[in-house]
Amino acid sequence: MSAFETLIYEKEDALALVTLNRPRVLNAYNIQMRDDLFEVLSAIRDDDEVRVALFKGAGEKAFCAGADLSEFLTAPSPVAARQIRFDRDVWGLLLSIPQPLIAVLHGYVLGSGVEMALCCDLRIASDDAQFGLPEVELGIIPAAGGTQTLPRAVGRARALEMLLTGRRIDAQEALQSKLVNRVVPAGRLMQTAREMAEKIAACDPQVIKGIKKAVVDGMDLSLSQGLDLEKMLAARRGPGIISKMSK
Ligand code: COA
Repeated sequence: MSAFETLIYEKEDALALVTLNRPRVLNAYNIQMRDDLFEVLSAIRDDDEVRVALFKGAGEKAFCAGADLSEFLTAPSPVAARQIRFDRDVWGLLLSIPQPLIAVLHGYVLGSGVEMALCCDLRIASDDAQFGLPEVELGIIPAAGGTQTLPRAVGRARALEMLLTGRRIDAQEALQSKLVNRVVPAGRLMQTAREMAEKIAACDPQVIKGIKKAVVDGMDLSLSQGLDLEKMLAARRGPGIISKMSK
């Protein structure tokens, strides 16, 4: 795939690797990154060769230090700056991708960095990671899904504490809060994420997508509706499984 100004996109067999690549400004999320991500995410969604996608940050210091403040402050107004972000719904696109997404998190994971990670399905952090939502201190409401995705991950009270106070938490607290699945030493971060991705990618991709859909869509349903969804998805896989067993 062609080079992007703010991202590196690589494919390694069944894995897609997306690297946020503005290390000089701690991979701050700007309008160009939004446009580049929009293209890359569309490609991942439509590419059956991609079974798992990993998202990571370039450089030593950060996964992503949030929205690009220089851009934010030079826009005509915060409202106008945000409107630009809404026009291309990167976050909706990220949440709609059928393949599992893994966020590989190190250093600063702030603002939209946290929100991007929350749009992923699994989050692996290195022990140096720090998480926070400083938007409240900037006088804005997080709007990359954070007010909805964070409480679903960590519960209402913990989410409100992070959102209302902007307090940063370290990797261990993120693990205790269920904000991340695993914390590993920095030197083993990529290897751990890759091993997890490869294990998933080795399984039947339709089954993997079915499990993701059952869990993600089911979270917004009542238990009985969720069980119907599971039944429907399992039945859809039924003939395939039976035909494999009879071979
Ligand atoms: N937008 C634009 N540039 C950013 C940025 C952001 N969100 N976060 C960091 N940078 C830039 C800094 O301006 C600095 O650039 P410079 O070298 O040209 O001065 C560079 O990245 C390195 O950051 P620096 O502040 O020197 O690193 P630090 O280790 O001292 O502090 C942070 C790291 C993350 C604590 C600090 O950069 C910070 O608070 N950033 C803003 C976080 C934020 O509010 N994000 C917005 C959420 S909505």
